[in-house]
This record gives sequence, C-alpha cells and structure tokens, in this order.
Amino acid sequence: MKIRKAIFPVGGLGTRFLPVTKALPKEMLPIVDKPLIQYAVEEAADAGIEEFIFVTGRNKSAIEDHFDHSAELENSLNAKGNQGSLQLVQKMIKPPGSFVYIRQQEPAGLGHAVWCARNIVSDEPVAVLLADDLVLGKPALKEMCEAWKGGNMIATMKVNATQTSSYGIVTPGETKGNLVEVKNLVEKPKPEEAPSTIAIVGRYIIQPSVFDTLSKQRKGAGGEIQLTDALSEEIGKTPFFGFEFSGKRFDCGSKLGFLQANLALALERDDLRENIKTWLKETI
Ligand code: G1P
Repeated sequence: MKIRKAIFPVGGLGTRFLPVTKALPKEMLPIVDKPLIQYAVEEAADAGIEEFIFVTGRNKSAIEDHFDHSAELENSLNAKGNQGSLQLVQKMIKPPGSFVYIRQQEPAGLGHAVWCARNIVSDEPVAVLLADDLVLGKPALKEMCEAWKGGNMIATMKVNATQTSSYGIVTPGETKGNLVEVKNLVEKPKPEEAPSTIAIVGRYIIQPSVFDTLSKQRKGAGGEIQLTDALSEEIGKTPFFGFEFSGKRFDCGSKLGFLQANLALALERDDLRENIKTWLKETI
C-alpha cells in the first residue's frame, strides 16, 4: 500500500526561538534561503506524498501564504523577465486541493496535533514529518516508505547518553540492516532511566488506529498528549520498526542545530561554498 498523505504539525509556539518566533512561525525560519517547512514538504513529495495536511495554530498564516501564488510578485518577476526566480516560486505550487490546513486550537502536544488531522486522514496509514528535524543527504521519508511493509515505523538515530531526555527512546528488539524492532517506547527519559540511546527523529508512518488511542487524550511527559505514548500502545498489535536513515539530521528547533544546518548547507552550495570556507578559516 502506498502512503499518500502526510501530516505536518506546525502549531507549536516556538518558544525556544524567541523573539524571532513571536510573530514568525518557527517553520518559516530559513536554512540559507528556504524555510524549514519547504524542506519537509519537498521531502514528502519526493516520497510520493500527494496530500499535505498542516496542523497549524494562530500566527501561522505565513505558511499558507508561502505555498500559494503571490500574484504581485509573479507579475513583477514576469515583467522584469526574471524567469529563474519566477520558476523558483511557481514550481513549489501544488495542484489545487493538495494542501489542507487545520487549526489546532491549543498547543496540547504532538499527539494532540496529529489527532487533529484524524478526519482528513480517515482510514489509511499516514506519514508525519516534524519540520524542525531537517535531514540533509538521502531523503529520509522516501527511504522509510521503501522499507515499510505495513504497521508503524519511526525514523531513528543514536544519540549521546546524556541527551535521552530530549527524545522519544526505543527499547530495541531484533535488528535487521537498517530496521530495528520496537519493543517499547518512552518519551524523554532521564539518562539513568533510558532503555537505550536509540532516539526517535521526526519522521513517522502511522496506522489510523493510532488516532483511536490518541482520542483518549491521555497526557504524558511535560503534561502534553504525546505521539510516542499512543504509538507505544500499538506495540504487539501491529508490526513496529525503527528505521535508521542514511541522511544527516539537524535539530533546527535548537539554536545550535539551526546554525549548523545553515553552515552545512552553505558549504554544499556552489554559490556560497568558497566564500563561506574562506570566511570560516579567517574567523576561526
Ligand atoms: C518530538 C517527539 C520526540 C522525538 C522528537 C524528535 O519531541 O515527541 O519523541 O524524539 O520530536 O525531534 P519535541 O522535540 O517536539 O519535544
């Protein structure tokens, strides 16, 4: 079965990035010249996603505008004969009806955000992408979709033992290549309580039954409704694997990760590489 739909939870307040996120959605922060959310949408499209479901909140209208036509801009670029920029802004527009926006009325957690999309998703497996987990290199969701044979799947990576309290952590079972069986999951355990150092990264393929579990609205870590908790209730009922993806992940929800991603991408770009290298050498 093909995964056709993806949920993008973008309703968070972005408090780790204040003051810039006071009026600007954190998903609109640029990595070089493209907002985080566009990387996530492109990754999803590359994996064959056709319907893009955004769970937004107040102050997030810049995201809707970003994926719509800007008549004034396009007319102006056209009049000036700037075809390169015109194509750039037009090729990101998807066929009408591909983008759906739902308001999450309160930021009650990732599980709550995903649950808000239940009526749009209905009865099929769906991908979930967290835009502040930027993966450069091989597109993670495409790799996951190719490896997925039903059930639930999460992207995983190893983290330092001191960092487990920032992630959902897996109790691993049998490992086969990139796949690790998920025996249990716990959200943000302290290092001394963590079952492993295998962490969830923000790419998921989930069964629609997860929405039923989420509808119980049980609060977990941080007093929020956690996707990790709902997924852990599925263990044993349906196959559940972690997938160690090949790309490099940047935590763009943190200032350090955001800056690293900007530099890493600038160093990959032909138009910036040499100047950035020279400047970095001089500065360091
Ligand atoms: C969320 C998930 C967590 C996961 C993380 C990956 O946490 O709840 O399980 O490991 O994303 O970035 P957040 O970073 O939103 O607190």
